[in-house]
Amino acid sequence: MATPLIEVRSLKMYFPVGTSLFKKRKLLKAVDDVTFDLYPGETFGLVGESGCGKTTVGRTLVRLYQPTAGQILYRGSDIAPLDEKQVLPYRKKMQMIFQDPYASLNPRMTVSSIISEPMRLQGVAQEQITARVAELIEQVGLKKDHLNRYPHEFSGGQRQRIGIARSLAMHPEFIVCDEPISALDVSIQAQVINMLEELQSEMGITYLFISHDLSMVRHISQRVGVMYLGHLVELADTDELYSNMQHPYTQALMSAVPVADPDLAAQSNRIVLQGDVPQPIDPPAGCPFASRCRFCQNICKEQLPEVREISPGHLLACHVMGK
Ligand SMILES: Nc1ncnc2c1ncn2[C@@H]1O[C@H](COP(=O)(O)OP(=O)(O)OP(=O)(O)O)[C@@H](O)[C@H]1O
Ligand code: SF4
Ligand SMILES: [Mg+2]
Repeated sequence: MATPLIEVRSLKMYFPVGTSLFKKRKLLKAVDDVTFDLYPGETFGLVGESGCGKTTVGRTLVRLYQPTAGQILYRGSDIAPLDEKQVLPYRKKMQMIFQDPYASLNPRMTVSSIISEPMRLQGVAQEQITARVAELIEQVGLKKDHLNRYPHEFSGGQRQRIGIARSLAMHPEFIVCDEPISALDVSIQAQVINMLEELQSEMGITYLFISHDLSMVRHISQRVGVMYLGHLVELADTDELYSNMQHPYTQALMSAVPVADPDLAAQSNRIVLQGDVPQPIDPPAGCPFASRCRFCQNICKEQLPEVREISPGHLLACHVMGK
């Protein structure tokens, strides 16, 4: 396999919570010891229920957060410990596209100034900026006369295109797409996905694609990681994961995907999760999924399962399955 673009090693992102004077500060373990690689030009899907830490992984990788511990090797250099100034050269190589294109675009700025902002921040000359903005607006399927308008004058899909144009301004190598289509109409979703795929094949960009839409993740990703309570519990090539999922949580997550065909829907065994969702503030000692797992054994409540490679490229963190 190729050399990874990014190697994530034992990444931890803890947030201090509870700032009361008399109470001891607690730590919310949003991302807890996550390890995976991202290869140049691939789309890596990241799935898991709300609050499991997907966005925090994305924001930490592009260094919007300073990780609590662990390494983020970007082309072999660890960017985890870098300060704001040191991380600047990497910022232009790593971008993020957000779920809500309206909230992420400044309503008082014209499209032209929104798209050119990253270039201004990096000190690019005005002449180059003007030329690049004209190129970008066409690349995302909008017109030059859109440049002097404001975000409220556009549809959701068009606003997402503006956000994408902005993220492309500095020729990024890596983009975190955080639920990029979930706020859009179904008819527009496919257009935005097609555009992301085209941009990737033209420019060789690596995507971390975060989504609740498991069918879309299957369509767009070459590999998929499943998160639960801050941990990466399973990771495999997309076809392998969707046909041979091993982790009890992955099985439950996939069983909840609506099946379009009514015959298949009748046959599908939906696994309804029982038990409480533990809090990332006070995570259990053993397996994070133990309180809801149908296969839970004594060891699961005591020991955190280590990540094992059960077949080439298929990683699993479970004491019981995959043996
Ligand atoms: N800046 C922050 N300060 C404190 N806690 C945070 C912060 N950001 C996220 N969290 C907490 O970290 C955990 C993971 O949040 P995160 O947003 O990464 O989840 P997610 O998987 O992206 O969820 P969703 O699917 O709802 O977007 C949650 O418990 C959340 O409340
Ligand atoms: S380690 Fe145990 S509790 Fe955790 S997922 Fe596997 S079987 Fe279930
Ligand atoms: Mg999120």
